[in-house]
Amino acid sequence: MKIIVINGPNLNLLGTREPHIYGRQSFEEYFAQLQGEYPHLTLHYFQSNHEGAIIDKLHEVGFTYDGIVLNAGAYTHTSVAIADAIASIRTPVIELHISNVYDREAFRHHSFLSPNCRGVIVGLGMKGYELAIRFFTL
Ligand code: DQA
Repeated sequence: MKIIVINGPNLNLLGTREPHIYGRQSFEEYFAQLQGEYPHLTLHYFQSNHEGAIIDKLHEVGFTYDGIVLNAGAYTHTSVAIADAIASIRTPVIELHISNVYDREAFRHHSFLSPNCRGVIVGLGMKGYELAIRFFTL
């Protein structure tokens, strides 16, 4: 089973970026742990700060992978283009946010992506990624 985590802008700085919100662990460290815990799964990771690169990756994996876990960061709240890309592919996408966006600024309360996603995980910290991956294995 092939699953990819796609992280969007500023998520390359997890571990150092606003640690009171996002925690102190880098994504690379967390992801290596996940790969160790689920050796029977093919787990890939892609991060980009660029909207078009995220769309290109969705197109690339979106017809062959079994699941996509997408934390589009701030593009969640702005990007019709990423929403359209999700609607255009076959692989189911779970939208994920590390923080509880509903407990934050009002502009984070709206997602262009959610209507096109299989489901949404919000506010469960890094653990959310593992839960999303496990959903795809059920
Ligand atoms: C985020 C929430 C977004 O509002 C924010 O722009 C991010 C991270 C999260 O994981 O909580 O970059 O997607």
